[in-house]
Amino acid sequence: MKTEILKLLRSTDGYVSGQQISEQLGVSRAAVWKTIRRLQDEGYQVEAVRNKGYHIVETPDVMTKEELDSLMKTRWAGRNILYYETTDSTNLRIRQAGDEGAPHGTLAVADRQTAGRGRRGRTWESPAGNSIYMSVLLRPDIAPNKASMLTIVMALSVAEGIGQWIPMIQIKWPNDIIVNGKKLVGILTEMSAQVDYINHVTVGVGINVNMTEFPEEIADTATSLRLECGHTVKRAPLIAAVMERLEENYEIFLKTEDLSGLMDRYSALLVNRDRDVRIIGEKETYQARAVGIDHTGELLVRREDGSMEKIYAGEVSV
Ligand code: BTN
Repeated sequence: MKTEILKLLRSTDGYVSGQQISEQLGVSRAAVWKTIRRLQDEGYQVEAVRNKGYHIVETPDVMTKEELDSLMKTRWAGRNILYYETTDSTNLRIRQAGDEGAPHGTLAVADRQTAGRGRRGRTWESPAGNSIYMSVLLRPDIAPNKASMLTIVMALSVAEGIGQWIPMIQIKWPNDIIVNGKKLVGILTEMSAQVDYINHVTVGVGINVNMTEFPEEIADTATSLRLECGHTVKRAPLIAAVMERLEENYEIFLKTEDLSGLMDRYSALLVNRDRDVRIIGEKETYQARAVGIDHTGELLVRREDGSMEKIYAGEVSV
């Protein structure tokens, strides 16, 4: 009922009467009042005015299931929500949920992780209160060798979602989100598959939202939305915005099972587009101009002699 009341309160800029809420939800006015009191205890500022009704003034920066449910506008992305105040890693929670039959689009969100994982076996520092740690379960009916493209789909979706808060967002191919040259978001995609069949894919996203300090090793290379925007940002609406973009972009991806419908938008956000990048190939290291991605997600570069080459992840250093 909390979710439903939050939705009703959010559906108008003005007041919603207790009578209206109780009629729409088919519950007593006493039950409505009780739920409003509980929301107030959780930090929602709900104003109650005689003869007018209730009005939501301020929401706390929480990512609870009710808060997320009440903001979600999607059909499947983020529709089944698992919220943890503390967990080991949302990627592990989603992998388990996937094994247990959870639906496509299931979203795990945590306020804190005790075993946050980064790419290449690194850890992802995950303190409480000011970041987003989330993972999405995808069940695509595609060949396993196409799954890496889902990382690109997610990178574009996160960039477009967060772009509603901060316009200068860019992508460092293949899947870091950058603002002013510093890393704001990391993405870790993991897959459970047979040789020719995907059981499920977990796409994990860590977003630096309100932190102002970072561990020493990343202090020079990491940033947060708060540092870049100059004010704190609420986390739940950000998650809802990313899920909306993901749902749309994923469906575009599925139509062709490649990135042909997304590569122009992705390439437009590339931080190293039209710039020289250093390619560390198997045989040689060379400079080339990054042009964009192709329909499979590989980076296209133009060498000095004008020839084009495709670069695989891991070969480029900016
Ligand atoms: C990177 O190294 O850039 C990827 C970092 C991915 C971190 C996120 S936080 C939510 C999800 N759970 C994890 O354990 N890792 C990912």
